[in-house]
Amino acid sequence: MQKKLIVAIDGPAGSGKSTTAKLLAQRLNYLYIDTGAMYRTVTLFAIRNKILGNNEAINTLSEKIDILLEFIKGETKVTVSGEDVSQAIRSFEVNQNVSDVSKIEGVRKILVKKQQEMGRNGGVVMEGRDITTVVFPNADVKIYLTAEIDERAKRRTLEYAQKGTKLPVSEVKENLQKRDLIDSNREVSPLTQSPDAIEVDTSDVTIEEQVSIILGHVQRIAKERNTKVEIN
Ligand code: DC
Repeated sequence: MQKKLIVAIDGPAGSGKSTTAKLLAQRLNYLYIDTGAMYRTVTLFAIRNKILGNNEAINTLSEKIDILLEFIKGETKVTVSGEDVSQAIRSFEVNQNVSDVSKIEGVRKILVKKQQEMGRNGGVVMEGRDITTVVFPNADVKIYLTAEIDERAKRRTLEYAQKGTKLPVSEVKENLQKRDLIDSNREVSPLTQSPDAIEVDTSDVTIEEQVSIILGHVQRIAKERNTKVEIN
């Protein structure tokens, strides 16, 4: 049987990771895994259980919580004990707290292990902050997406507006900068660009262009590995 590849994508918030990874997974007929959704889900329940700031309780929560990730009609569906939390994990309140929750070592250990199990057999496009460095440092294809901060803030503001939340670009930009700072400077697996990851700057390209640039790399690497990828 042909080996299925592991495609790992990292980058800061708003760099276009999830849109790109989703389309890439569809084109390759691979599973799309949004690891940020897992950190968001733990954060949502930490808020609900009023345990923010209590790392031990959050560790226990992340061990016990059963997060089901599915990819339905082009969207990630997240279910916890039968409750669909896909919308709730994208709230501004979760955005404001998720970086602090994802700094906790125990939480990272537990979620990284789950992610490694999910991608073990290949055939996945997994995106996050530490996929190319910690979760799958030996991934077949390693991509680092970047984009200028103003462009990222513009994209996120539009996303919120489409979901009915109107926020000034300046506030969204400030939140992104704050998250970038925490995500890049935390002690445990900070967001860093792996030296062997391929950098793709998305500031001035369309989503379709980004996807086709990355597909080009996937095809080239598949050929080097003597494996075949079928592109839809
Ligand atoms: O990709 P996102 O914006 O949904 O991620 C939400 C937060 O989760 C982000 O601020 C950092 C954290 N995260 C992480 O630390 N490691 C990952 N692999 C994915 C996300």
